[in-house]
Amino acid sequence: MTENKILLGFEIPTGEPVYLSLHHLAIFGMTQLSGKTTTLEALISRSGLRAIAFKTKRGETGFTKYNLVTPYYKPRADWQFVEGLVNVALGEKVKYEPGMRYAIMKVCRGRHNLREIQKAAQDLAKETKREFMKAVYEKLVAYLEIVIPELEKWRFSDQLELKEGVNVMDLSGMRLETQHLVIASTIEYAFSYMDHVVVIVPEAWETLPQGKMTPVKWVAQQFIRKGAAIGNYLWLDSQDIGGIDKTPLRQCDNWLMGRMKEAHEVERILKQLLGLKVPKEEIQTLPLGHFYAAIGNQVKKVYVLPAGVPEWAGRNVAMGVVSPEQIRDDYLKPSQVLEEQEEMYKARCLELEKALESERRISKALEQEVLRLKGELDKLPSFEELKRASENEREQRLLLENKIAELQKELEQTKKDREAIQKIKEALQQLLPTPITTGIPTDMPSEVIVGVSQPPLLIKRHKQEPLELVQANLEGRIAIVYAEGKLPEKAFTTTQLNKILEARFGTKEFPGHLTPACNKFVAWGYFEKVQSGTRWDYKVKLSPEDARSKGLLKEVEA
Ligand SMILES: Nc1ncnc2c1ncn2[C@@H]1O[C@H](COP(=O)(O)OP(=O)(O)OP(=O)(O)O)[C@@H](O)[C@H]1O
Ligand SMILES: [Mg+2]
Repeated sequence: MTENKILLGFEIPTGEPVYLSLHHLAIFGMTQLSGKTTTLEALISRSGLRAIAFKTKRGETGFTKYNLVTPYYKPRADWQFVEGLVNVALGEKVKYEPGMRYAIMKVCRGRHNLREIQKAAQDLAKETKREFMKAVYEKLVAYLEIVIPELEKWRFSDQLELKEGVNVMDLSGMRLETQHLVIASTIEYAFSYMDHVVVIVPEAWETLPQGKMTPVKWVAQQFIRKGAAIGNYLWLDSQDIGGIDKTPLRQCDNWLMGRMKEAHEVERILKQLLGLKVPKEEIQTLPLGHFYAAIGNQVKKVYVLPAGVPEWAGRNVAMGVVSPEQIRDDYLKPSQVLEEQEEMYKARCLELEKALESERRISKALEQEVLRLKGELDKLPSFEELKRASENEREQRLLLENKIAELQKELEQTKKDREAIQKIKEALQQLLPTPITTGIPTDMPSEVIVGVSQPPLLIKRHKQEPLELVQANLEGRIAIVYAEGKLPEKAFTTTQLNKILEARFGTKEFPGHLTPACNKFVAWGYFEKVQSGTRWDYKVKLSPEDARSKGLLKEVEA
């Protein structure tokens, strides 16, 4: 590798190494069948740069190793930004929406945030005498009414700290407009404060559409124009070329084009191949990891070397000795660790949110009960009067007073519990780009019923029926390796567990199923979760011997 040149892969069919210079880049190809994300990850890992990418859809990111970062968003209140926002929402050019640009410029003047802008639009909608402008302002108000609460729902970071390699912001679950805001904010941050950073823009046809200005486009143009000089690059990832704004594309010196089926798309690609004649069918049948690379002034057909794959293996694919699928199966196992960790934190946050909700209900029920009892107390004769009253009546009053004191103590405790849960939840949320509200259904029945004739808290534990586990299901297979003492004494990861299961039963489990299954064993008290750095591992809590001696583990013939 020469300076500033990164190995892309190997030329087909010669197997000669192909390098590219760091520059803005665009990569295209069909979903899953081309290998875009794998290519980007390989280039990032070989460049030693830091990259920021965005996960906009649910599911896998496609990256095998990445660092999850909290979405960055810094509110802006200038008219260009608001116009971009409205553009995304209306799906059309604000320029062509009569009066809209004028309205936006007017409401943004001197404002500091979107709330102030919305208020200004509301006021103008009321004040203006012109029916036509009234409608425009109302449209703006209605639109901001959707955007603002959505922005308030998510927790954003006001700083951006990137580690070497790929850093991913998880924006899945956010509305499209919000995603655009975060992406735009991030590009702007990188543009203003960072150098030697690659921003990977996903679904470029959506974020950088042809014809209209969006928040991303606005900042992407500046980033592209000025970025290269300080080592900042924009890499566009898209399933197709059609619909993408051509201005940023023209600034890309590196184009990678993978398998594409749609005829128009193929035509568009061929136009980019600097006059090289490639039959349409070539593009339509490009195998996995194979790309036409237009690098500077040259076009080459390349097999991209994924990160973690030895060069000789990559060369073998380019020379037709080995299939890319073989490479995938041998070297490219998706790393689940961070995804699992994320899932776990999310699940934990949800649990805590539920616990909080139920504590809130308990508090509320207790407060009401205290009030009700105080009302009853007021109805009773005073102590003075009771001096003359019967023993029985005096006792009744004393009992009631005790009960109130008891409930108030309980109330204090729920407050403390709530604060503790809230703190854990906040700590977890630091690690997660998760919404603050998790949408717990409000019709959830209250777990605690408080009445005068009962003790204030009644915890009923249901008698546990024994669990019958069989080899046919995952829990059963875990129970078998547990019972056979095959699990280590020290903490283990789900990946390690999977190896143990594979050694015992001959096949691997689907990795995504292991965490929920292990969590069941935690809930049943057989395993516990232990923290190892930022990751959570599992550990046997109750040894199989102890479980047997307590009569908790029995093996019977099915
Ligand atoms: N060069 C390669 N050699 C072998 N396998 C590859 C190569 N590139 C990608 N793959 C495999 O192909 C699959 C899809 O790859 P990837 O996620 O990179 O595709 P993508 O084009 O980014 O898809 P999407 O559009 O859905 O994001 C993965 O299983 C990956 O391991
Ligand atoms: Mg991808």
